[in-house]
Amino acid sequence: MSRRIVVGLADRAYEVAVGPGLLDQAGQRIAPLLKRPRTAVVSDETVWGLHGARLTAALEGARIAVSPIVISPGEQTKSFAGLADLSDRLLALELDRGDLIIAFGGGVVGDLTGFAAAIYKRGVGFVQIPTTLLAQVDSSVGGKTAIDTPRGKNLVGAFHQPRLVLADLDVLATLPDREMRAGYAEVIKYGLLGDFGFFEWLEANGAKVLAREPEALAHAVARCVEMKAEIVGEDETEQGRRALLNLGHTFGHALEAETGYGAALLHGEAVAAGQAMAFRFSAAQGLCSRQEATRAELAIGAAGLPVRLGDVLGHPFAAEALVRHMAQDKKAEGGRLTFILARGLGEAFVAKDVDAAAVRDFLLTEGAAP
Ligand code: NAD
Ligand code: GLY
Repeated sequence: MSRRIVVGLADRAYEVAVGPGLLDQAGQRIAPLLKRPRTAVVSDETVWGLHGARLTAALEGARIAVSPIVISPGEQTKSFAGLADLSDRLLALELDRGDLIIAFGGGVVGDLTGFAAAIYKRGVGFVQIPTTLLAQVDSSVGGKTAIDTPRGKNLVGAFHQPRLVLADLDVLATLPDREMRAGYAEVIKYGLLGDFGFFEWLEANGAKVLAREPEALAHAVARCVEMKAEIVGEDETEQGRRALLNLGHTFGHALEAETGYGAALLHGEAVAAGQAMAFRFSAAQGLCSRQEATRAELAIGAAGLPVRLGDVLGHPFAAEALVRHMAQDKKAEGGRLTFILARGLGEAFVAKDVDAAAVRDFLLTEGAAP
């Protein structure tokens, strides 16, 4: 049985289905959205090798012709070169504006395909079939699409909502444990930012989620999607509350930039350390208690995720370099830094005018090099 969550965006509202067996239902669920029975499926080599045949069978079973576009896995594909290549391959298929593109993979495939769909012939519809925990609970929902540039992550992109999201929990069976943990950093984020009850549930049940126990996994993914759908429905283009979803990201992006956006530190791992740091920084600013910051840190650390600079390969990082990355972050406005800070567990808020010197001092207390 799958759960159905709606992202309420008036005439662009769409359904997120969460549950087992959804890949096999992809044909019947996607067919009503198509103007003609053909589609392009963008996937990466790993996902396509593991699950491509099942998705193809499901689509062809509904008489939909499938043109696969298989790209290299990894963050480096989410680039101008990757976008140019994908756009060219879509054009070669002669898809028109009435056709739909399917993004079948993790956040890299989803962000790149979503952006290509946003600009292909001035915009074409797309469907997300997320295959990582991170993509199921975060990146496939909400319509943020982007590529990276040498100046930073996600700096060129568009808001472009999918028409449907199918989060099949079965595909997570093949996800490497490290990627599962990285996705879990985004799961715990929802508890920390706005649902203390969910945070407590994760303290008790996080190991079951990581072990992919069906009930626990379904509850966790559905709760995250519900929260994201609610936030996006209220603030699609991040004028306010949606920024809460960036908890841990300002510290996290700086660490990703320092470590080169690669295998040394996955995005979710950076967000994990970033969230622990955001709570400790909040405690240092007198916004929440040290006990609450420690509790957040313990829950993140219990999942085997990094919580301190010293847990990240490449440490010691220079405080100055980290602050420089934060200032370049697109969330920086008028020289002041924007952070998501917390008044308690489940009580995050947007702090728009954080003093860079206070952040630098904090980083020194965290063991950053002067
Ligand atoms: P990813 O897409 O790189 O996937 C991680 C790895 O897992 C890849 O090697 C992939 O081939 C493999 N993989 C995917 N599904 C698999 C499966 N079922 N079985 C086995 N292997 C599988 O990484 P990700 O963590 O999914 O996404 C990270 C990206 O998402 C970053 O670029 C980040 O910026 C972006 N992101 C976007 C948003 C958003 O709102 N758009 C939110 C969060 C993160
Ligand atoms: N991942 C942050 C957002 O979707 O707003």
